[in-house]
Amino acid sequence: MLLLFLAATVLTYVAHAASLVPVADFGANPTNIAMNIYVPDKLAASPPVVVLLHGCMSAAQSMWRISRLSTFADQKGFIVIVPGTTKDFNCWEVNTAKGLKHGGGGDADGIVNMVKWTLAKYNGDPKKVFSTGISSGGMMTNVLAATYPDVFAAGAVFSGVPAGCLAGSKGASPITADPACADGQIRKTGEEWGAQVRDMYPGYQGSYPRMQIWHGTADSLVTYPNMVEALKEWSFIHGVQFAKNTTDTPQRAYTQMMYGDGTQLVGYSAQGVGHTVPLSSNQQTVLDFFGI
Ligand SMILES: *[C@@H]1O[C@H](CO)[C@@H](O)[C@H](O)[C@H]1NC(C)=O
Repeated sequence: MLLLFLAATVLTYVAHAASLVPVADFGANPTNIAMNIYVPDKLAASPPVVVLLHGCMSAAQSMWRISRLSTFADQKGFIVIVPGTTKDFNCWEVNTAKGLKHGGGGDADGIVNMVKWTLAKYNGDPKKVFSTGISSGGMMTNVLAATYPDVFAAGAVFSGVPAGCLAGSKGASPITADPACADGQIRKTGEEWGAQVRDMYPGYQGSYPRMQIWHGTADSLVTYPNMVEALKEWSFIHGVQFAKNTTDTPQRAYTQMMYGDGTQLVGYSAQGVGHTVPLSSNQQTVLDFFGI
């Protein structure tokens, strides 16, 4: 009897616990990508929305598990959108002309439509929309910040490349991409990167998302110079200069590189860490930066 009761309790609990679920119709989806959403049982009044992007050869469900964001979403009541792509070895479209344009018809457009659908359905806070991702998902976070600065308030990039680094490459995966970007051979001035970013949303006059850039010094797949270049890019866009380093922050062997007063741009250089810097042990630092 007691056992039966316990089993019933567990079943009830499982039935009510939130999980990552697919959403079929969220609006225009020009590249036919997948939407998945995690809506915690206890939502905040006007919930923030976090987009979580997987890397190449990965997928939404595994990214969701690896990120361990559900505990935080449950505690704080924010919604997580986990898009999925199966094209180009499951890599995001961060290379084509249309993919690098506001309203160009690339992956970024579909992701933004997922955000808009979510804001409308759950009365989300349009001023608290964020993106984070690892590897290709980090690259896409930079691209979303450049193409949709009007939608995203902040981004956290793990082991990615600057927005526009893969422009003109025939693919965006380790197999199909021009290797120059990942190898760290695409070097530009902040002004050149900045012009490229502004060209992704011509005429836009508003502010750009606050950015965190995380990278491992021992990354041999997407090499470390990409962090330096991404910091140049956002440093120029935000008009903030390198201010100071703080070692062993937020964990041992990581260096926090603060730009300006640290509210617009921060780098985290992870000494000896390869591909990729884990989101799973750094979520608190990301969510603090997002302000959620
Ligand atoms: C700050 O830290 C980064 C990463 O360790 C390093 O590359 C850079 O040279 C440091 N800058 C200064 C001024 O110490």
